[in-house]
Amino acid sequence: MLYMHLSAILEPYAINRSIIGFDTFAGFTQIDPQRDPKDINHQMFSDTQKSLISEMIEANNLVRPVNRIPRCELVEGDIAKTAPDFVKARPDLVVAMLILDTDLYESTKVALQTFLPLMPKGALVVLDEVAYKNFPGETIALKEVVKLNTIELKRLPFDSCVGYFRV
Ligand SMILES: C[S@@+](CC[C@H](N)C(=O)[O-])C[C@H]1O[C@@H](n2cnc3c(N)ncnc32)[C@H](O)[C@@H]1O
Repeated sequence: MLYMHLSAILEPYAINRSIIGFDTFAGFTQIDPQRDPKDINHQMFSDTQKSLISEMIEANNLVRPVNRIPRCELVEGDIAKTAPDFVKARPDLVVAMLILDTDLYESTKVALQTFLPLMPKGALVVLDEVAYKNFPGETIALKEVVKLNTIELKRLPFDSCVGYFRV
């Protein structure tokens, strides 16, 4: 919703820009026992309500310019399956910004493998838990997909878990 707001404010007529949100809407369904933390479980985040987010999208659509063209999509399910399926079904897809916040190894790895080839030079990848020992899965996935010394991984001054790099 934050990115939908920013897009509506900063680029209100970018009718071809989509904000696409992937989530199981059932929490951490794919936990890797070797690479993800031991103290998490499948119930975590299982209360995320797709219907509530859909209502927020509809409410924002009421006041958004050119609102007959949808700008925001939700894709439900395990991203390890939904992301490759989505890309296959959308040959027009080019990704300007990839925000990874599933916290876990497998989903982060598949998202990177699936979307990075669709990101042009200058596109932005944001990782919510990079180089963060409580949730190592995201960083393991990053190291397996990208050579660390080929990217400039940056931090935000106000948040020491988030990292980002430009393709
Ligand atoms: C830390 S929350 C972040 C949610 C959102 N970015 C936010 O800030 O509100 C992690 C989210 O990743 C989702 N998730 C975990 N594994 C996933 C997977 N394999 N496929 C899709 N979503 C997944 C969870 O359901 C959860 O909503």
